[in-house]
Amino acid sequence: MNEQKIIICNNLKNDLENVISSHKYDKLFILTDSHTYRYCLPIIENIDSIKEATKITIGVEDTNKTLETLAYVWLKLSNGRATRHSLLINLGGGMVTDLGGFAAATFKRGISFINIPTTLLSMVDAAVGGKTGINFNGLKNEIGAFAPASEVIIDSEFLKTLDYENIMSGYAEMLKHGLISTHDNWKELIKFNFDNEIDYKSLQILIGKSVEIKEKVVEQDPCEKGIRKSLNLGHTIGHALESFSLQSEHPSLHGYAVAWGLVSELYLSHIKADFPKEILWQTASFIKEHYGKFNFSCKDYDKLYEFMTHDKKNESSESINFTLLGNIGDIKINQVVSKEEIFESLDFYCETMG
Ligand code: GLY
Repeated sequence: MNEQKIIICNNLKNDLENVISSHKYDKLFILTDSHTYRYCLPIIENIDSIKEATKITIGVEDTNKTLETLAYVWLKLSNGRATRHSLLINLGGGMVTDLGGFAAATFKRGISFINIPTTLLSMVDAAVGGKTGINFNGLKNEIGAFAPASEVIIDSEFLKTLDYENIMSGYAEMLKHGLISTHDNWKELIKFNFDNEIDYKSLQILIGKSVEIKEKVVEQDPCEKGIRKSLNLGHTIGHALESFSLQSEHPSLHGYAVAWGLVSELYLSHIKADFPKEILWQTASFIKEHYGKFNFSCKDYDKLYEFMTHDKKNESSESINFTLLGNIGDIKINQVVSKEEIFESLDFYCETMG
């Protein structure tokens, strides 16, 4: 997989102008959803090349991450006479960067694209690392390709358009990155002050560190054969909680489900791999304070377990695959955990978060 360049902006206009002019392209296209068209495009529209670019706008939310929307983007590129030397900029959250990246990777067998993520979740996760795709047949990210953007441009300015819940949702992936890296990074993250107005400059420094952690992992294992599985920490139980919540009246944001999944999976790490109790408690109390609790009871355990058995990260239908930790940064992939142990970790969640 080609390398992608991550640019943590000092000056968005200059940095973006430099990146665009470093490409030899014939036509520039910019993909937004209706939300980023309204709130984020105006932030960069004073750049001449952006003013002249052909705009393609799709609907917001994951429900639009479909084959139909993908075909619409292909059609706009084709009718706009895009060639193999055209350039696409994806301006948006994970839905836009995933779908736009896949559209670019497949149009005329691949054109270059730049990601400008506008949510914290996409800055630290979706836009970085080359996973692109769409949902299909009721399954998330069922069709896709590993195709890195040539550049990912990150500026916390865009985060000012987000509400607290969407900031915290992305922050859960940063916590995960802290847990798989170093004590210092993890400590900085659980000390970050969300009580007063968010200090976006300090947050941007933490975002830079977080993206670097993900980049290092992806560089070693771009196609998720080994160490990239460390990025799944918190996600086996997290995805089950997310799917379960989608059937309720109050669906949870992805990052909230990951944060709650981290509580249970750090407990599993404690009983299976001796993960330190004190770090488990400190992380759980940060999550309780900032994410609240997703309510379920022991009556729901079987349903949650059923969701876990469908996780596409499992290597066989008989066992559920976990990434666990022996300590911060001490990663143990492909850990098999019994149903009883999973239920015990859900008990821990209910008792601790209650
Ligand atoms: N979101 C996890 C990964 O990029 O591998």
